[in-house]
Amino acid sequence: MVHVSVVSPKGGVGKTMLALQLAASYARDGLRTCLVDHDPQGSVLVFGKIAQRAGIELPFVPTNARVSGFDVYIHDHPPGLEEAYPSRIAVVPTLLDPPSFLIHRRGLRHLEERGLVVVPVACRYRSDRKQQRDLVAAHFLDRPVVKDRDVYPTCYGRGLTVVDARGIPHLSKAQNEIALLRAAVDAAIALTNKPHE
Ligand SMILES: Nc1ncnc2c1ncn2[C@@H]1O[C@H](COP(=O)(O)OP(=O)(O)OP(=O)(O)O)[C@@H](O)[C@H]1O
Ligand SMILES: [Mg+2]
Repeated sequence: MVHVSVVSPKGGVGKTMLALQLAASYARDGLRTCLVDHDPQGSVLVFGKIAQRAGIELPFVPTNARVSGFDVYIHDHPPGLEEAYPSRIAVVPTLLDPPSFLIHRRGLRHLEERGLVVVPVACRYRSDRKQQRDLVAAHFLDRPVVKDRDVYPTCYGRGLTVVDARGIPHLSKAQNEIALLRAAVDAAIALTNKPHE
């Protein structure tokens, strides 16, 4: 059983978007997966409703209840930092403007001080902006980077994840980004499972 929290001190940085993609990625590998909505805004539950209305059967269970019996729990948190988390792994998205990035670094420190393994993710990256290119080159060369792509909100609006969608422009690029994010999370899981030496 594994728990992964998606966390940021800042709002609107892509937490829910990444949590949805990660949940779909694990579920499509045959793991019983739930996506736990800790946010009073209920964005995950809204997504679940959109999917239901569109007649889409999600591969994971979106819920805001305390549940058990799953292999993978992805936790979508509201903006802000907590003293304690349900997970030992924190996926931490950031936007790529300097103020957001400073807030992100403070978030990473907070989480690491509480013993979590962090997976920083550059989110909504615009490679046509020099400031963003410089930040990515300095801090995200070997880390997951998710570009700013219409395909993400398009899928959300249809009750789909990029993992499950078909026939939308630039889908395969988004799928590759999520595969790299998934690999980084798997590496963090492996780290937390390593016995202490
Ligand atoms: N890679 C992306 N490309 C384009 N748009 C994106 C991307 N990721 C997220 N978005 C859009 O950015 C907005 C914020 O994303 P999201 O809701 O996932 O952020 P959040 O951190 O969960 O926000 P909150 O703090 O309010 O919970 C949404 O409108 C979403 O559709
Ligand atoms: Mg959210």
